[in-house]
Amino acid sequence: MDHRRPWWRTAVVYEVYLRSFADGNGDGLGDVPGLRSRLPYLAGLGVDALWVTPWYPSPMADGGYDVADHRDVDPRFGTLADVDALLDDAHALGLRVVVDLVANHTSAEHPWFRAALAAGPGSPERSRYLFRDGRAGGEDPPNDWISAFGGPAWTRVTGPGGPEQWYLHLFAPEQPDLDWTSADVREEFDGIVRSWLDRGVDGIRVDAAPALAKVPGLPDAGHAPGASFASSTWVDNPHWDVDEVHEVFRRWRRIGDTYDGDRLFVSEAVVNGPERLARYVRPDELHTTFNFDYLKAPWDARALRAVVDGTLAALAPVGAPATWVLSSHDETRHVTRFGRADSAAAVMGFDDAAAADPVLGLRRARAAALLTLALPGGAYLYQGEELGLPEVEDLPVEALQDPTWERSGHTARGRDGCRVPLPWSGDRPPFGFAPDGVPPWLPQPASWASLTVAAQDGDPSSTLSLYRAALRLRRDLLGEEPLTWLELGADVLAFDRGAALRCVVNLSAVPLPLAGLGRPLLASGAVGEAAGDALAPDTAAWLAPPG
Ligand code: NOJ
Repeated sequence: MDHRRPWWRTAVVYEVYLRSFADGNGDGLGDVPGLRSRLPYLAGLGVDALWVTPWYPSPMADGGYDVADHRDVDPRFGTLADVDALLDDAHALGLRVVVDLVANHTSAEHPWFRAALAAGPGSPERSRYLFRDGRAGGEDPPNDWISAFGGPAWTRVTGPGGPEQWYLHLFAPEQPDLDWTSADVREEFDGIVRSWLDRGVDGIRVDAAPALAKVPGLPDAGHAPGASFASSTWVDNPHWDVDEVHEVFRRWRRIGDTYDGDRLFVSEAVVNGPERLARYVRPDELHTTFNFDYLKAPWDARALRAVVDGTLAALAPVGAPATWVLSSHDETRHVTRFGRADSAAAVMGFDDAAAADPVLGLRRARAAALLTLALPGGAYLYQGEELGLPEVEDLPVEALQDPTWERSGHTARGRDGCRVPLPWSGDRPPFGFAPDGVPPWLPQPASWASLTVAAQDGDPSSTLSLYRAALRLRRDLLGEEPLTWLELGADVLAFDRGAALRCVVNLSAVPLPLAGLGRPLLASGAVGEAAGDALAPDTAAWLAPPG
């Protein structure tokens, strides 16, 4: 194994959705001290790094992605001293820490936005955001752009003298978009990036990266009435994946390169296909990027193979490693998704709540974990997937907090179902997430008693044990070996990673004979002699290829 290669080329990064990971101060909301107390669990799981979702001061209109101060910590999540202690402890355990940078928008409570409202039209304060006069004498929004959470992307300001300009928000109205042509904005974020790198974080995840640049003049996008955000299909869209975004990434890369320790920039970028995605990770831009095509693919061998091949082919010319991801705090948990007749993910928070077969979903999710962790490059795990947690689809509507629910006119429940706090131990809520008697900020299902970390710990058949074993083997066996496909049938994914590892995934409806393919090292379900030397449907195995 080459120990000189940057860690992020092959890292397994665990997404900590901070609000829902562990509550250290007993208020029912996850926080930095809670996360710090559970770091040994993550080190024992065998991941290389954590990406922690925003801990910044925030009115929480979008779960902390509405940032009021990019350089501080919300008191509900802890203090800067807690973050320093977290970084120290994580590093002592060999874990790297990636923070979230929300640069497309601020909170409406950010001092800049308050100043912009107060200063009025035409002021320098307003030029940091995208304020425009409305059409039709001011009555209509300046253009037809839409919000990712549903509805128009513009909200009209009411000033002391009545209704006046509109401001752009590609997400919630509480998240006004910054204008990245403003020198103030660019320089402020240079300082924010430096402040976290100076504090010792190992990487920065760039939120909503394709949103940062807009086509000058803000022309109509041509969205159909009632259209929803579908950035994976958009071509030449004036508010998404506009080429000028890359100037921002180059600027940050120049800053990152002045630091030691292989600091990482990883983008969240849902764009139209792997060629557009590869532009985010050109040698002087970001290092890696989430791979949403993989996350959105259905449980289908041809579709998955096409994504794997398309990703690797598009990234090879720019020299960036791939990343693979199945779930996040924005998407239906894949145990549930893979149990549905249509197992492809839709747009964040807008999946149809179609019936799911939980047994089938979990079987496929376990197989998908072995597939994901065998692919070349890095991987992102979302907290709780190592426990096989399903989406919570029956949260009472009064518990829903995601802005999608309101913004969609109560047609899409949004993303709360994948954000339910983790079950750690015990036989009833809050399952060790918070002190006994403290209700978590979203209610946990009573049925999670059998899915807690404590319940799965030491059970060799548990999903937690599968993840631990896979991560250990991956660390022992895999580096940057290329992928070589084996042809075992149209509904089978089988490939070698050098001489060390063979991964076989049976997506067909019939058992797959394994005779002669190698010695089983790990499987997501029954395999080997007990299973008639075959791999059951929706099951994956890692084998040592015959010598
Ligand atoms: C992507 C984040 O993952 C999501 O949770 C958030 O709502 C949007 N960006 C807006 O910041």
